[in-house]
Formats: sequence, structure tokens, C-alpha cells
Amino acid sequence: MFKLNQNYLKLPGSYLFSTVGRKQREYEAAHPDKKVIRLSIGDVTQPLAPAILEAMHKAVDEMGHAETFRGYAPDLGYEFLRNAIAKSDYQDRGADISPDEIFVSDGAKCDSGNIQEIFSLDVKIAVCDPVYPVYVDSNVMAGRTGVYDTKTETWSNVIYMPCTAENGFAPEIPRETPDVIYLCFPNNPTGSAITKDRLQEWVDYAGKVGALIIYDAAYEAYISQEDVPHTIYECPGARECAIELKSFSKNAGFTGVRLGYTVVPKDLKCQGTPLHSLWARRHGTKYNGAPYIVQRAGEAVYSQEGKEQLRAQVAYYMKNARVILESLKGAGYTVSGGVNAPYIWLKTPDKMTSWEFFDCLLEKANVVGTPGSGFGPSGEGYFRLTAFGSYENTVEALERIKNM
Ligand code: MLT
Repeated sequence: MFKLNQNYLKLPGSYLFSTVGRKQREYEAAHPDKKVIRLSIGDVTQPLAPAILEAMHKAVDEMGHAETFRGYAPDLGYEFLRNAIAKSDYQDRGADISPDEIFVSDGAKCDSGNIQEIFSLDVKIAVCDPVYPVYVDSNVMAGRTGVYDTKTETWSNVIYMPCTAENGFAPEIPRETPDVIYLCFPNNPTGSAITKDRLQEWVDYAGKVGALIIYDAAYEAYISQEDVPHTIYECPGARECAIELKSFSKNAGFTGVRLGYTVVPKDLKCQGTPLHSLWARRHGTKYNGAPYIVQRAGEAVYSQEGKEQLRAQVAYYMKNARVILESLKGAGYTVSGGVNAPYIWLKTPDKMTSWEFFDCLLEKANVVGTPGSGFGPSGEGYFRLTAFGSYENTVEALERIKNM
């Protein structure tokens, strides 16, 4: 008789964005006359940039001729893409990362869920609270998180690092020493950023205690302030203690196209064993690479034209962020984020819980956002809005919220 992975049964509820999506669909079905505006999941709305489309069309044509047809991609991804990534995302920023330390994948969500496979089941993870749910849930599935306490909504074997208004939504070094630390900056969900000096403190700490940092830099393209690092490898010592995850979803609109990468420096070792070889082994066994057409699209992200077009796209979304920030502030809300990130984090009014505010916003303004408590207990009483809507919808949504 077959048996189930019991760890899956420990997971409370469904995936946050599935619940939010279901509630939106139910509301729409019950109120077909209402125009609901979605500012919940961080899904892009602007079309692919022309330089990317052109590269994709060309690659599609290549696939139609025997001379230029491509089958399986190389294990780590095509060199043309890894060279472009290494140069633009790292070497041009003074970060010492080479193309053979980059593993191209179909997105940062999968990588952030899969990376835990290469660690022992008895490592203790530390996460920010609130946090992108994939980091915790993937460790629950693996059986690493202990027992779930429904009252505190926490796992017994996870170190939570509260990110609150008091600490500017940036975690402090935990009292208990973790083995693996998940950090995401610019942050999802709070939209906060970390300065290079603060990130250096984390790198120094990880080096000192022998911990590993998994650094999710999916929102890097939204950084607008000088002292905010674009990659953890800007910090000396990070090559020995950090893995970085990057996505093409938010900077280039690839949420539906799917492309990402993970950097595993060759200096990163656990008792002499390079993590690079483990991740390469995992990649080789379980993954056959992002499609050629998509990797060519990714290469176009780094062309001169591509860079200019995507700067404009990021600016478009950040204009939305300003509309959200300013409108909410004007309406008396306490807000943060939205300066180096496409997320705005607001305190719910009148002591409403996050889900109460979700319902109130849906019913009174027909706007869908994401309840902060869905990201962890310290998110209770907060709410996330995304800047990834269209400008027109964002302006309309905020008008409605102001008039609630
Ligand atoms: C979010 O809304 O938090 C993100 O879109 C989720 C993701 O990137 O997977």
C-alpha cells in the first residue's frame, strides 16, 4: 500500500495566493456587475518589451530549421545568457561572480522551494516574519520545521525574525543561532530595503557562526536608493556564505514566460564539500533547463535596447507605487515600502485584522490586496498592495479606497 508524505498534511490551509484568488473569484461570481481590481499577487500587467519579443521571434524561427534547431539546453543554461548575467548583474557592479557559478532555471519560486533539498533535514532555518510563504512551506514539506502551533501560527523548529515598524521592517540577528538564513531584499512583502552596511553585518555574522544565507534578490530592479546593494556579492565574504536567487519575472515581465537563476559560488563549502557540485548534481538529475526561446529572451534583457525598455517598464510600475503611497498617506493610512520595491505595506485602519480589511476592501472598494497575516504572525494588522497593476486601474483603485 502506498503512503503519503505526512509532512504535506501538516501544512495549514492552502497556498496564500490560491486562497486570495479563490476569494476574488467567489466575489466576482456573486457580483457579476462589479469591476474588481486586483492589487494582490505580484503579477505584472505590462506587455513584454519589444527587444525581448524580437529575440523570442528570432529564436522561434531558429527552432524551425535543422541547422539552427536546439534540443536539450546545457545543464547550467546557455553560455550566452550566463555570460550576460555575470557581466551585467555582477561584474559591472564589482561583484566577483563568473558565468559557471550561475544556474539558469525556470524561475526563482521553484529555486527558492527546491534549494532546501541540498541541506540536511536537521538544519534549523531562520526566516523573516512576515515572509514569502514558499521558504517556510518547502521546508515543512521536507519535514524540517517541527510542530505547527495554531495559536501563534508558528513552527516549533523555525527561528522567526520579526520585521516590525519598530525595526523598520528589517530583521535583527536572532538570539538562537540558525544554520540557514533566508533573506529577501528589497523585501516581499513589506517593500523594505537593506543598506549595504546592514547586509554586510549579516554576511559577517553568517561567516562567524558558519551559517548559510539564501538571498532572494527578485526585486533588485526596483532599487532607487544609492546605499542599497543590488546583490549580496557586493559584500566581502558573501562568496563563502551566500547563495543568491534572481528572477526575470519582476524586472522583465516574465511571470508567464518563466526564467530565473541561482548563483552558487565555488567558494561556498560545507565541511569541504562545494555546494556548487551538489546543486549541479540536483540540476542535472531533476531539471532539463529553461527553453532556448526563453533563454534568448533573457539575453535580450541585457542588450542596450532591452535595458532601456525595461528601465521604462520599472519606472511605470514605480509611478503606480507613488500613487499608492501618496493616496494612502493622504487618506491617513500608515504606509511604508514602495521606494525600493513594488510593494506597499500598510497598517490596517481601526485595528482591523488583515483578513477583515481584505473583506472590507473587496466589498466596499472592489479592490483585492493581500492580507499581511498570510505572510506570518507579525504581518497581522498589515496589508500589502502591489504596484504591478495598470496605471489606470491603480489610480481607480486608490480613488475607491480613499472614498471608502
Ligand atoms: C507575490 O505576490 O508575493 C509574488 O508574486 C509571488 C511570487 O513571485 O511567486
